[in-house]
Amino acid sequence: MKLYDVYPLFDVNIVNGEGCKVWDDKGTEYLDLYGGHAVISIGHAHPKYVEKISNQVATLGFYSNSVINNLQKNVAELLGRISGYEDYNLFFINSGAEANENALKLSSFKNGKKRVIAFKKAFHGRTSLAVEVTDNPKIIAPINANGHTTYLQFGDIEGVRAEIEKGDVTAVIIEGIQGVGGVVIPEESFLQELQTLCNATDTTLILDEIQSGCGRSGKFFAHQWAGIKPDMITQAKGTGNGFPIGVVLISPKFEAVYGELGTTFGGNHLACAAAEAVLETMEEENLLENVNRVGEYLMQELRKIENIKEVRGRGLMIGIEFEEPIKEIRRRLLFEEHVFTGVSGTNVIRLLPPLTLSMTEAKEFIRRFRKVLGQ
Ligand SMILES: Cc1ncc(COP(=O)(O)O)c(C=O)c1O
Repeated sequence: MKLYDVYPLFDVNIVNGEGCKVWDDKGTEYLDLYGGHAVISIGHAHPKYVEKISNQVATLGFYSNSVINNLQKNVAELLGRISGYEDYNLFFINSGAEANENALKLSSFKNGKKRVIAFKKAFHGRTSLAVEVTDNPKIIAPINANGHTTYLQFGDIEGVRAEIEKGDVTAVIIEGIQGVGGVVIPEESFLQELQTLCNATDTTLILDEIQSGCGRSGKFFAHQWAGIKPDMITQAKGTGNGFPIGVVLISPKFEAVYGELGTTFGGNHLACAAAEAVLETMEEENLLENVNRVGEYLMQELRKIENIKEVRGRGLMIGIEFEEPIKEIRRRLLFEEHVFTGVSGTNVIRLLPPLTLSMTEAKEFIRRFRKVLGQ
């Protein structure tokens, strides 16, 4: 059997990782400014991560959600304390799309409505509702195009107000920082007004922090820069440092009902061991401080480089926009300078390194990036 060919691949076979570095099967070392798409939070093969998962798999790899799992309670407690959401409740699933799927479903169960406001260039995942609220007709199959979503301009508060006034909107879903859309940060006043509007109209405000959460922006969640407290927050990617895990943080406004939500694998013992390792390491290694310091340095140095249209971002989620397509720059970074980077659209290079990126590694990236740009 061959693989179903859905990804255009770089011709590199990564077989090893440590910290912010990965190695291919020929032994070539690469600097990882991509984090496997914002997934690697505490670094590849972090010793605590390896130890926790190894011990857990040797003890109990899996049992079902029909019995007590104290690991889940521990992750909920840790996450609540570290993120400042101790009064919220936690639901575990396995991916970002599933997190959004469940958040939207729960919203609709609560207020009985079924239209969603999403924003232009939003990306929320590839499964049924998650893809339907994603602003990309190319990835919405006819079976998913069920007319639940109205897409508005990012920042259009009057548009949101007008739609909500029609009375059938269950939720507004918005990324903490738009990732696929090009690293676009919502105005703080926009998020604050959204929260006020949603609170006043029994509309659920869902913050998709799947990419921008878990410390990536320099606060635990990117929306915390605006001082808001949404009704639900979805998180995945960095939460398990590579182990598949998704979570929904749910406001105490929502009362759990048996049977409404459920999952076989969500919150399994190995996933919890991975999340525990991530959260404990974030605290022990003071990673938020590192994200802010190294992120600021990177943005400051990138802004000194000529011929870049704009550098945007927060913490270690950085977009570098050029006037022209960046495909060749990214290819040369990888194959000549051995640096992995991400991309948004055609003209934006996206940096999503592990949150452990050191100043030395950041300086080395700037040196190699300048070299590729001939500066
Ligand atoms: C903002 C955002 N939401 C949702 C998702 C979907 O997550 P997953 O691929 O884990 O389903 C992604 C993935 O890139 C994302 O960036």
